Amino acid sequence: MPVGQGPRGLLGARPRGPSRRGAALSGLTVDVHLGPDDLAEALRADARLGLTSTPKFMPPKWLYDHRGSELFTEITRQPEYYPTESERRLLRQTADEIAAAAKSDTLVELGSGTSEKTRLLLDSLNKNGELAKFIPFDVSEATLRAAGAAIRAEYPNVAVHAVVGDFDHHLEEIPRSGRRLVAFLGSTIGNLGPSDRQAFLRRLARTFAPDDRLLLGVDLVKDVGRLEAAYNDAAGVTARFTHNLLTVMNRELEADFDLDGFVHEARWQPEHSWIRIGLRSRRRQKVSLGEIDLSVEFADGELMRTEVSSKFRRESLSDELEASGLQTVSWWDNGDVALTLAAPS
Ligand code: SAH
Ligand code: AVI
Repeated sequence: MPVGQGPRGLLGARPRGPSRRGAALSGLTVDVHLGPDDLAEALRADARLGLTSTPKFMPPKWLYDHRGSELFTEITRQPEYYPTESERRLLRQTADEIAAAAKSDTLVELGSGTSEKTRLLLDSLNKNGELAKFIPFDVSEATLRAAGAAIRAEYPNVAVHAVVGDFDHHLEEIPRSGRRLVAFLGSTIGNLGPSDRQAFLRRLARTFAPDDRLLLGVDLVKDVGRLEAAYNDAAGVTARFTHNLLTVMNRELEADFDLDGFVHEARWQPEHSWIRIGLRSRRRQKVSLGEIDLSVEFADGELMRTEVSSKFRRESLSDELEASGLQTVSWWDNGDVALTLAAPS
């Protein structure tokens, strides 16, 4: 997200409410529903709540400032982090079939990031020149703009309408015209716990027209060793990604987190079917957050949760979709990850 830009790390004040920028003639438009003021306010509110809760937590969206987005890309290149490559392989095998089943003229991508793997879907949907529009949606404006411009240049017949927003607040702002394929790849849905996931899927399903389809990419439950290795890579990139949250709070909230005072931890919790990721305090310590006038105590060994990464099983995922008003129409998996195509029920 765009924290990390401008003198204090956030862009200067901009009028509140949605703003549209980008010339229609260039074929690239960007709707901004989440400006720097909104972000600053949201981060203050999340820190106030998360750091005064027991156990402490922070929502994962704050991991994705400019540096965090770069670190995530670096994670996807680590040998232990199988989900990205595995999903790319599965998409390569199935994209034509997905395109034929969905018959969409509009591709929406949620949590689009760099939209790297998405090119496989764009290629298949665009084979007969039927794809008219690509709508990437992400909280990170800088990443979205870069990816949107690159895709616009690579697919000259496809208009790009990027939307900067938050899953929690702006799903309803995503344009609904056309016959849409809404892709949510990379198991980003797993970064929501079960109740948030259900609420998210319900809200998403309510925006669907009868011909719209959801393509959901999820990581599957597997051997604990492989799961935990993926979040504890030997090069320490995931640890840097997690620690970057402290850098974001130091910069944006005038906090004085000592990065060496916390250790990255990622553990499989079978009772939740998720990897719990967080920062464990190496000692008893006090942290001040000047911007929100808050002082927080950490006990020796206390964990602040930064993410969960849920892993899925076919049957329970299908049940979750059904409970949200979506019906599974196709399922593809390669043992590691799965893609499921769902329609409004
Ligand atoms: N889809 C890509 C990127 C996954 S990384 C892939 O499969 O590799 C997760 C992406 O979700 C990041 O780009 C991040 O900025 C975005 N994201 C995280 N939380 C979000 C939120 N609350 N609302 C919108 N986007 C969010
Ligand atoms: C974006 N998301 C699906 C990643 C995951 O695997 O849960 C985020 C991540 N966190 C640490 N490594 C990767």
